[in-house]
Amino acid sequence: MVLVTGATGFIGRSLGRALSHAGAPWRPYSGRMSSAQSLRAELEGVETVIHLAGAEARGNNRLLQHVDVAGTQRLIEEARRAGVGRLIVPSRLNADPHAVQPLLRAKGEVERLVQRSGIPYTIVRSATLFGRDDRFSEIIFSLALWSWPLAWAPGGGKAPMQPMWVEDYAHCLLRTLDRPATLDRIVTVAGAERLSYRDILLTILRVTERPRILLPLPPKMARRSAAVLLGWWRWPPVSRYFMDRFFMPEVTDLDAVQRQFGFQPARFRETITYLNRGGMRRRLFRK
Ligand SMILES: NC(=O)c1ccc[n+]([C@@H]2O[C@H](COP(=O)([O-])OP(=O)(O)OC[C@H]3O[C@@H](n4cnc5c(N)ncnc54)[C@H](OP(=O)(O)O)[C@@H]3O)[C@@H](O)[C@H]2O)c1
Repeated sequence: MVLVTGATGFIGRSLGRALSHAGAPWRPYSGRMSSAQSLRAELEGVETVIHLAGAEARGNNRLLQHVDVAGTQRLIEEARRAGVGRLIVPSRLNADPHAVQPLLRAKGEVERLVQRSGIPYTIVRSATLFGRDDRFSEIIFSLALWSWPLAWAPGGGKAPMQPMWVEDYAHCLLRTLDRPATLDRIVTVAGAERLSYRDILLTILRVTERPRILLPLPPKMARRSAAVLLGWWRWPPVSRYFMDRFFMPEVTDLDAVQRQFGFQPARFRETITYLNRGGMRRRLFRK
């Protein structure tokens, strides 16, 4: 039996479909990460936990500590008690407990907890994921719609990224279940093409047929404007961590997925057709 925390989230929804399609016995965790009691009850009879619950989308450092770091620690304690045989945990490229960026620091702390848990684990680090209802391509698209006739490219838009389709990532998580070679390892995956923010923005504008004049935004100004714009929201529609990823390379081997999981990941420009549907308000202002 596989227990999936965060099964209602962006990755969780794709993973749930993949697990059901593969006929794997699984159930979603329905409690909160703060409740040791719920964890204890729902971990009974569980062999593997895929731990997707996290507060990244909220963009709040306190919640990251509370849900991601303390929540993982609580899960580990209860999983040890329940005799869980394996933990599969997502993480991000550049995760590091000493990172300056709060999100990468929290992910680094979570990795360290999992590695020291004594429970057999696999950490699946990935680049930023895209897909229907993501917090990446849909936000870039919405910002470009709102800033007509311009489109801002933070930092000049040059830092390379390897965005990965969420369905491909879910597939990697699924395959991790029956790949002993991934045990007690950090596995790194990403898309098979290196794109700058500028490439991503231009591809989105081309696919959605929305011509814009590109305006490079110097890194300092981009960060300052984001801080001012998002600072007064309690729960901003765009995560406060959104900007961080555009100023440092987020890359790994181009053949990482093919080599470790035996398939070729989807290409960005062929997969973002979901952006053509309407509902800009829904994109930015959904929970
Ligand atoms: N998206 C990416 O590009 C990406 C890349 C690499 C790694 N990751 C990591 O993968 C994980 C999942 O990401 P995601 O994009 O799927 O996030 P998401 O869409 O924000 O989903 C988060 C999930 O966690 C649940 N959750 C939040 N707080 C909780 C709490 N206190 N107790 C129990 N459940 C809670 C949410 O349920 P409720 O809505 O009910 O709170 C939701 O199901 C996160 O750790 C994220 O950092 C994401």
